[in-house]
Amino acid sequence: MSANLVVTNLTQKFGGLTALNNVNMEVNFGEIVGVIGPNGAGKTTLFNVITGVYHATSGTVVLNGKQINGLKRYQITRLGFARTFQNIRLFKQMTVLDNVKMGMCCRSKCNIFDNILNTPRRRREDKAQEEKALGILERLNLLDYKYDSPASLPYGEQRRLEIARAMATDATILLLDEPAAGMNDQETAELLKTVSGLRDSGYTIILIEHDMKFVMNVCDRIYVLNHGELISTGTPDEVKNDPEVINAYLGKEEEK
Ligand SMILES: Nc1ncnc2c1ncn2[C@@H]1O[C@H](COP(=O)(O)OP(=O)(O)OP(=O)(O)O)[C@@H](O)[C@H]1O
Ligand SMILES: [Mg+2]
Repeated sequence: MSANLVVTNLTQKFGGLTALNNVNMEVNFGEIVGVIGPNGAGKTTLFNVITGVYHATSGTVVLNGKQINGLKRYQITRLGFARTFQNIRLFKQMTVLDNVKMGMCCRSKCNIFDNILNTPRRRREDKAQEEKALGILERLNLLDYKYDSPASLPYGEQRRLEIARAMATDATILLLDEPAAGMNDQETAELLKTVSGLRDSGYTIILIEHDMKFVMNVCDRIYVLNHGELISTGTPDEVKNDPEVINAYLGKEEEK
């Protein structure tokens, strides 16, 4: 299987702080790849560089042979990347359905006049978007909430709605920043099914997560960051048994 996302010698500095130091990573099409590490290790920064929030101090991010770091965020979105955020960022004043439709704005063929005049093109696109959004909600088991406010949803459903909105961008690579955070055991088990199902239907998924049980059960491969350095990579079993990881991260978890 050829790699479709290759991160090479990626360094991100913020003033005197090196958040990522020469990080290398490869993600193959159709994989679930985990990124773990203690607080402040550089995990979210890695997502921010991949999605164009930061342009990297040095190093490259290459998608299917084409360098993407340096591109604008909307250009990276159009290449098929979408993400969810560590802190849920839903539009509370809109319905669940409209939150998903918002994810489709980046693909709209309508111009400002279509929107102002509500032209037939605008109405056709609206209908198509609505059908697509309903399909995504059904797939993520959120259809019953379609006219509710996101704030009224149980926490696990809000996190799934974030994934639904990311899918609405027509993404093929989903970056999920702590999707299981704050979930109870049942919600985490449902999320595991959702994420595995997405992989089985062709999505490539990179996820940051602190819930070790979830990570070890859902990921094909894992990268471990500590203080901005990549300290280990491999299958869940390989990473779990790497003394350096136990020392830096899992050891600390066990002490709790
Ligand atoms: N925009 C920024 N400006 C300055 N420093 C930053 C910025 N973004 C992140 N950092 C710093 O970079 C380091 C890595 O932060 P990052 O958010 O990537 O960690 P993380 O691994 O996602 O941690 P957590 O598990 O707590 O979410 C931290 O020391 C953080 O304070
Ligand atoms: Mg983070």
